[in-house]
Amino acid sequence: MEKTKLYILSILSACIAGGGLTSEAKVSDKLSFNPAIAKQEVLTMPSGEKVGYTAYENIYYVSNIEDSVYQTLNLYVPESLKSGDSTPIFLRTYIGGYMATTAKSPSAGDATGRALKEGYVVCIPGSRGVNSTISRNGKTVCTGTAPNGLLDLKAAIRYLRYNDNVIPGSAERIIIDGTSAGGAMSALVGSTGDRPEYDKYLRKMGAAPTSDKVFASVCYCPITDLNHADMEYEWLYGCTNTGVRHLDANQIMISNELAAECPAYINSLDLKDDEGNLITSDNYRDYLKTFLIASAHKALEEGCEIPDSIGIIRYSEKPNFGDFPPMDGNGDGRGAPSYGPAGVRPMFNNNTDYVTDIDLDKYLSYVASVTPLKTPPAFDQYGVLIDTPTPENKVFGDEEGNPSNFTEFSLRHRLHDPKATLGKDLSARIFIMNPMNFISENATSVAPHWYIRHGAKDRDTSFLVPINLATKLKNTGFDVNFFLPWNRPHSGDYNLDDLFSWIESIAD
Ligand code: DHB
Repeated sequence: MEKTKLYILSILSACIAGGGLTSEAKVSDKLSFNPAIAKQEVLTMPSGEKVGYTAYENIYYVSNIEDSVYQTLNLYVPESLKSGDSTPIFLRTYIGGYMATTAKSPSAGDATGRALKEGYVVCIPGSRGVNSTISRNGKTVCTGTAPNGLLDLKAAIRYLRYNDNVIPGSAERIIIDGTSAGGAMSALVGSTGDRPEYDKYLRKMGAAPTSDKVFASVCYCPITDLNHADMEYEWLYGCTNTGVRHLDANQIMISNELAAECPAYINSLDLKDDEGNLITSDNYRDYLKTFLIASAHKALEEGCEIPDSIGIIRYSEKPNFGDFPPMDGNGDGRGAPSYGPAGVRPMFNNNTDYVTDIDLDKYLSYVASVTPLKTPPAFDQYGVLIDTPTPENKVFGDEEGNPSNFTEFSLRHRLHDPKATLGKDLSARIFIMNPMNFISENATSVAPHWYIRHGAKDRDTSFLVPINLATKLKNTGFDVNFFLPWNRPHSGDYNLDDLFSWIESIAD
């Protein structure tokens, strides 16, 4: 502990002796952790159990603060640390809808309270987002366009690592957790540690000069792969266009055009299933079915009622599929994903039906009947059929608050110019906001452990988005725990027993 303190002091005194502070020393001065701000607090859990902890709040994590409302973090240290100096730090982002969020305190009802109770250090940073503004020279300036929200999380992580020897727990074991847009941020933080593409921004912000890699990424329903999400949505849900979705002729035209772009994208990913078989646009629906079947089967095992009307096809007697559970209804041998909830194939008992197949169109119509689908384009909507920008259009907008397209498809439709292209700077921003671009054999930038969940009736983005993310990570050799929990809409931080037993398993 004392080592870093002494080191910082020695840099400072060397600079002072040398006639002035270098900019690096100024950063270290402003960003050194001050334990004197500690306050003792108690959190009462839903069970009535009291969890005592030390709170360190309103800590600026950059030295060139642009937005003092959001660029702070709070840190919470439980009375008894789970595993001393090597205790993981659970970093929860409350980003939702790509909006700004202030640093928050732990909540007894979600993963932050649970983490404290389990003895983990908890960090809850604020970050800029689509609704954050400041006044500069009398003008309103939007501070949260891409990639700023992500940069804030990276800067917070750097702060923790920079002060690792004085902050309890280990910054080498940061586990980031987020939901939806926050899940997207979690995926980005998890896949882009120390990537040089972010350096110039982080330097300008005065982020601590250290690593921003994390140990694990928890992504609930990540709204990510934004520049392919429209085609993935229409390719999957197009089957409902003239049914439950009720689209008009123009919308159907856009939907069909988008869907037609998806097969080439799927095929470009070069994804493999667990047995090493290539996943293509031709067999992708079968691949998706394996995840939904595993989900439905687990639900039956746990005693859920599944109505016959939603496309789940089952047998009450174990069909003869040899030694393996009948996870692939079309008998192609692919089977269930082996990286299910506990990392194993679901166990079968004799009291439940066996899910043998899914009528996928019927099931997708059911999902669309529970929550109406987004209209096409689901994400890059601005100026295509309506002028209203989505949160994503604002994320890629400019400082003055003008929204922007982030796909050539939508840009060309908005401008009625089939040759229009996205500018170079904008393209670079779009690139660094997509985790799929950073998952490669170069493993050093990617978190080794991933927990990814997307509800089996969540229609906020296509099932292809989390499945492609999980599969690409798995194919590249990372530890991935992926599942589509049955009957779950768009939500996060559920089934905390499962999450925290996974955290325990990776942290041991
Ligand atoms: C969120 C949900 C969306 O459907 C979306 O497009 C972006 C963000 C959210 O809940 O964070």
